[in-house]
Amino acid sequence: MFRLTDEQQALVEAARAAAQDAIGPTVKIDDETETFRPEIFRKLGEAGLCGIPTPEAWGGLGLGYVEYCLVLEEIAKVAPSWAVCVAVSGLPQIILTKFGNDEQRTRFLPKLASAEYLGGFALSEVGSGSDAASLRCSAVREGDEYVLNGSKFWITHGGYADVYVVMARTGGPGPKGVSAFLVEKGTPGLSYGKKEEKMGLRASPTVELLFENARIPAANRLGPEGDGFRVAMSALDSGRITIGATSVGLAQAALDCAANYACVRKQFDTAIIDFQGVGFMLADMAIQVETARLLVHKAAWLRDQDLAYTPIAAMAKCAATDAAMKVSTDAVQVLGGAGYTREYPVERLMRDAKVMQIVEGTNQVQRVVIARHLKRSYGGG
Ligand code: CAA
Repeated sequence: MFRLTDEQQALVEAARAAAQDAIGPTVKIDDETETFRPEIFRKLGEAGLCGIPTPEAWGGLGLGYVEYCLVLEEIAKVAPSWAVCVAVSGLPQIILTKFGNDEQRTRFLPKLASAEYLGGFALSEVGSGSDAASLRCSAVREGDEYVLNGSKFWITHGGYADVYVVMARTGGPGPKGVSAFLVEKGTPGLSYGKKEEKMGLRASPTVELLFENARIPAANRLGPEGDGFRVAMSALDSGRITIGATSVGLAQAALDCAANYACVRKQFDTAIIDFQGVGFMLADMAIQVETARLLVHKAAWLRDQDLAYTPIAAMAKCAATDAAMKVSTDAVQVLGGAGYTREYPVERLMRDAKVMQIVEGTNQVQRVVIARHLKRSYGGG
């Protein structure tokens, strides 16, 4: 785990080259103009990067979560927006693999894993963010169909995704009244609301989904009625590791830029890295990147071993996203005035970092997950 195998190293190098080739040329302009380019996603798919942990039988590479994290880190070094894209399109794959039936897997997994289809995940609503179990979007059974009404907020790939996993209420209040559904683009009654104007991750679209008597086949329900909250939480356990890996890549990119700059930038006839104030700042940044990476890899490894990983995934998400925020902020500081301009990527990385502390469960929610685990572990019930 502390040294990559030859296969892992080759995968990292392939991912790095593919990410630079597909994303590099337009990363700056796409951030400035808030442009999402589906063709970049297809290119990443052609390079085999969009279905890393999906079993080979269903069109993926069948690799582990450690490999998935290594790939996401490389994509995030070029553009965190695109690592988030691959990770979010991975969520329906994680869900289908674990909770789907063979008919659903056959229909969707090969297309998602090859990037022919872009995936989405729709849990949050205007009134239910952290309190996900209070969601109100309804799904009422009518014969062989469900009729969906309501809306979903802050949905990555809204309007672009070919298929979304949507959590909707089929029963009473609370988590046990929630079910999960596959909803395809083009479903009559599904439309799109406002596109958010964001501080960061600007090449990744975030759009509201609106359901008005949207009819979907009952065959599109994932698992039994009432299982949707468990489906969502389980997917988020995995997703939080991927947000951690993305944040490690982001932080590494910020550190690389700052360290390179500090070696060549001279003041008072001295490279600024040789001033202790700057050198120690860079050393602290390196410590944070390395520790975050270790925790992310541990969470991924536990998942690969089929061992319990919920609290470690939450810790990894917290540690890595907090590291990304601090390291990218300090990178701007190391570059000084240059860091505040768009000539260097660190201001973009700093803006991108902020949302990592928020998505897939705020870092406060992660601490709730960790504290509840501690309470159970230490006999508090
Ligand atoms: N895996 C499986 N089941 C789980 C679980 C997990 N990790 N966590 C909880 N559950 C189950 C519980 O076992 C419980 O079932 P039982 O009663 O049968 O035991 C049920 O779910 C309810 O659990 P809780 O009582 O813990 O639920 P809660 O209402 O107290 O909520 C919470 C807990 C941790 C705060 C949760 O609501 C949460 O994670 N909130 C944050 C939501 C979130 O992350 N949203 C992000 C959306 S996606 C996104 O950001 C961007 C994107 O585009 C993808």
